[in-house]
Amino acid sequence: MATKNLKTKRIRPVLLVNIGQLLTLGSSSQAPRRGPQLKELGIIEDAAVLCHGGRIVSVGKTKDALRDPWIRKNRKRIVEVDCVRHVVLPGFVDSHTHPAFINPRLVDFEKRISGASYEEIAEAGGGILASVDAVRRAPKIQLAERVLEGLYLMASQGTTTVEAKSGYGLSVESELKSLEAIRDASTQWPGTIVSTLLGAHVVPSDFRQNPERYVDLICSEMIPQAAKKKLAEFVDVFADRGAFTAEQTARIFQVARNYGFGVRAHLCQLSETALQPLLQYEPASLDHMDCVSEADIAALARHQTIATLVPGANYFLGLEKFPPARKLIDAGVPVALATDFNPGSSPTPSMPFVLSLACTHMKLSPAEAIAAATINGASALRLQNRKGSVEPGKDADLSLFETKDYREIPYWVASNRCALTLANGIVCSAKNSPH
Ligand code: NIG
Ligand code: FE
Repeated sequence: MATKNLKTKRIRPVLLVNIGQLLTLGSSSQAPRRGPQLKELGIIEDAAVLCHGGRIVSVGKTKDALRDPWIRKNRKRIVEVDCVRHVVLPGFVDSHTHPAFINPRLVDFEKRISGASYEEIAEAGGGILASVDAVRRAPKIQLAERVLEGLYLMASQGTTTVEAKSGYGLSVESELKSLEAIRDASTQWPGTIVSTLLGAHVVPSDFRQNPERYVDLICSEMIPQAAKKKLAEFVDVFADRGAFTAEQTARIFQVARNYGFGVRAHLCQLSETALQPLLQYEPASLDHMDCVSEADIAALARHQTIATLVPGANYFLGLEKFPPARKLIDAGVPVALATDFNPGSSPTPSMPFVLSLACTHMKLSPAEAIAAATINGASALRLQNRKGSVEPGKDADLSLFETKDYREIPYWVASNRCALTLANGIVCSAKNSPH
């Protein structure tokens, strides 16, 4: 692993020219996108983008950029990228991932192929608990290397901002170690990481007889220590059958809020859980949402909370049902898309693949899917003032796809057309580079 801290590296100005379609996702409002607003990509053709100091400085037509006096004067020190009429868009914001794990879960994979369900596998000792031992035993540096590997795989498919959860340590020591590994990996990656404490992923075996005592531990030690060490911005709970109850979730949310964390939850993946008691904690996002009720969809539409849909999990678990994305969007709920990158239910780092699934299995249009994966992902992390669109003043997070039309990004399913990813003005991934 390289030791240089990328965040302190001096960055040369970068000028992207001859962009066939630039999807700016620009808007006069910072509010999350709802309903028809999801289709507004703000496309500029024959476009150029100038980035300097890690930020976007100007956005416009190539011919105007080439006439700009500052650009003409500084031409020699500017790194110019000829986009040969391909598509440029904001780097994807993957607002739900679990990268702090050591091994793939191949036994679970084979059991599921033979007909076992996610819950049956978990009850037989597989599932999330099967990832815990290796994480507890791993030195922090090894865990950080695994996280970094995941981040570069994501960047190679256009992702520049990642929400990264702990959740496979399930002890105070191993949850904090996981968050430290995420922090250490983030210093080696040009993109932006938002960390989430997911100590409440499932009840670990050592607390099986007394789950409340594990909730006590989360509230009295994990959350306070994560706050003291400034290791996370959010606290997440897997609130579902076989994990944590709505009451336990509310208790954890209350403590998390007291310590200054934002909150989010895995909800309605396996069973319907009432949203209303949790909405008072103003969760940044509620994720999965496969079994959400009609009444709760209406309630959600009145809040700023984002419904983050992770169809990679439905695909990989071989489910016929996908989250009711059309109902959510048409009711006015702000929807985001994320990979849910994890070793059990969604081992994919690819946002373009998730976009394909959103189009084919949840009936989002390509435009809606792109907005859900960029600007609404940024809202899910409360980063909409910095991320998710290509506008002057925002972070220089851009991805270049070797396609003539943005609709090809979800169309070329499971093929990687991403040629360049720029994160905070630094090349994070380029075709034919080692990463
Ligand atoms: O989002 N549902 C809970 N957590 C993950 C699965 C994690 C795992 O199986 O390792 C999810 O699907
Ligand atoms: Fe998840």
